[in-house]
Amino acid sequence: MEKSYKRHLVTAALPYANGAVHIGHLAGVYVPADIYVRYLRMRGKDVRFICGSDEHGVPITIKAKQQNSTPQEVVDKYHLIIKDSFERLGISFDIYSRTSSPTHHKTASEFFRKLYEEGKFIEKESEQYYDEVANHFLADRYITGTCPKCGAENAYGDQCEKCGSTLSPNELINPKSALSGNTPVLKKTSHWYLPLDQYEPWLKEWILEQHKEWKVNVYGQCKSWLDGGLQPRAVSRDLDWGVPVPVEGAEGKVLYVWFDAPIGYISNTIELMPDDWEKWWKSEDTKLVHFIGKDNIVFHCIVFPSMLKAYGDGYILPENVPANEFLNLEGNKISTSRNWAVWLHEYLDEFPGKEDVLRYVLCANAPETKDNDFTWKDFQTRNNSELVAILGNFVNRAVVLTHKYFKGEVPSQLHLREIDEDTLAQIPVIKKNIEESLENYRFREALKEAMNLARLGNKYLTETEPWKLAATDMERVATIMNVSLQICANLAIAFDPFLPHTTQKLSYMLNMKSRNWEDLGLDSILHPGHKINEARLLFEKIEDIAIEAQLAKLDATRPSEAAPAAQAEEATPSAAPQKDECTYDEFMKMDIRTATVLEAERVPKTDKLLKLTIDTGIDTRTIVSGIAEYYTPEEMIGKQICILANLAPRKIKGIESKGMILMAKEESGNMRIVTPEERLLNGSTIN
Ligand code: 2FM
Ligand code: ZN
Repeated sequence: MEKSYKRHLVTAALPYANGAVHIGHLAGVYVPADIYVRYLRMRGKDVRFICGSDEHGVPITIKAKQQNSTPQEVVDKYHLIIKDSFERLGISFDIYSRTSSPTHHKTASEFFRKLYEEGKFIEKESEQYYDEVANHFLADRYITGTCPKCGAENAYGDQCEKCGSTLSPNELINPKSALSGNTPVLKKTSHWYLPLDQYEPWLKEWILEQHKEWKVNVYGQCKSWLDGGLQPRAVSRDLDWGVPVPVEGAEGKVLYVWFDAPIGYISNTIELMPDDWEKWWKSEDTKLVHFIGKDNIVFHCIVFPSMLKAYGDGYILPENVPANEFLNLEGNKISTSRNWAVWLHEYLDEFPGKEDVLRYVLCANAPETKDNDFTWKDFQTRNNSELVAILGNFVNRAVVLTHKYFKGEVPSQLHLREIDEDTLAQIPVIKKNIEESLENYRFREALKEAMNLARLGNKYLTETEPWKLAATDMERVATIMNVSLQICANLAIAFDPFLPHTTQKLSYMLNMKSRNWEDLGLDSILHPGHKINEARLLFEKIEDIAIEAQLAKLDATRPSEAAPAAQAEEATPSAAPQKDECTYDEFMKMDIRTATVLEAERVPKTDKLLKLTIDTGIDTRTIVSGIAEYYTPEEMIGKQICILANLAPRKIKGIESKGMILMAKEESGNMRIVTPEERLLNGSTIN
């Protein structure tokens, strides 16, 4: 028997404030979490839905460097974009705060201090890369070098993006600091570690024995970590952005972002309910559920629970962690750095009034058990063939016919025939199915069930054909319209957790004062004589042109390996005319070679220029290039390019630029960098 809880605390992963939110985040975490919370609220449960921006960590400092700004400016900017776009989509957090808040700093700091004072950490000295020019220890992402596995240059200290291997910085061949381009040196540093190995037996019992009901992907990942044996994990970093380590002599050290971020759930609950928060975190009557993406599983199932266990003091553990897999976009992995994404704030601007279409498509296609693909074609089809043709169409027919035959007044059910009774009897069954699916975190299935209710309505109208009876049997028409309107009212309730903007419109149309989950399944929600309002379309058809515009927008950033061959061929007919002849000797004077972009940043006060730090194989140099219109700095970092190396140096905006990047002009005027077919050694000559 499922335990009954007094309250439900639902958290959604705190998004990093180093970029906006995209459809992958939404499908994986925020849409299912919001559906779950809205459902619980409708059932009258005492619920709090907690989230906020994750504002610490190395990615934010890198973003600041790339944008030539400060970490604070970066998080201020993205926090607002994220918060606002969540609100517009109807993600109904009770609080959306941020980990740079004073409450969070205080909470995280005190959490660390208690564990420190109680001797729960081990302190260890290790050697880490240090940039003697920049006077800085280097986070793994700040070190680049040759991948020991595949030989790719510019692998990061934690990962090679070419072959996907997980690396540690001291495995890199010829490591270089991304701060200065210099070779870093190993220097001793001391950090605090949470000895996860000590918690292993307890975790095995808690997860592997007591939570066999967790989703297969979650349970499987935990099992594989636990079977592999846990190691102590550092909970501090040498960095100047984050929550300072609250211990004497720890200057220049901050809490590791994955130590402070989950404490953010607690801090945000404190901000929301300063006097009352403890019962939400320290009572066995609270059901805690973490909604996350699959890359967060280890932190939420192993690390954070171990932190809470170490802390003691009655902290509860999550009852479930329904992590989703990843959503791809048009067959490619979503990538923030390559801008291969559908950004929520852009979607909301480009599809005003269609918030629920996105919610619907992302839930219908959520990567619940495996990675899934979002395509714009599927988005259009689901809107046109499901939302418009099934849900919208049924409601519209029911409301329009009620106005036509009964002046907008709900008629009475007079004599129920078998078809009416059978139809009405299916609604409580659908209700039960939706409940069972939602309570087991099967959101796609739940949404499908809700849509089955609209299908039921359409089938009922099609089979009873009230429009054919209007001339002869108005009593029968009255019954049919009453039953149809009851289905509409049930739809307003059943869809409420999924499509809150739509159900609000529908309730207005039906003049319903409230939408209570207990009413779902009833055959008399709207009473005879009740006045309904005029029909309004719930959904509009999405035309091809809107989809083509989105595909064209994506094409501008399509990952090069995925570019269809046909497109490249199409561009040739309008090639520019050939230039005047040059001699062989003139050509041979040009030193064209391969190089890799180490760093890229915008040149302040210009729209077109990027300042690139380039490894040419012979030296590291700066080239200022007019490519900012076509590439973001993030996209350029790590790219192998071709350069004219011996072009006479010149000053551009006060910066000495040595060389030129070879670019190809597309028919549209768009410029693309020229890259070798496969990665070559930097400095390979081209002729
Ligand atoms: O993966 C992420 O986006 C992380 N910022 C999630 C943090 S969740 C929690 F622990 F705060
Ligand atoms: Zn590699």
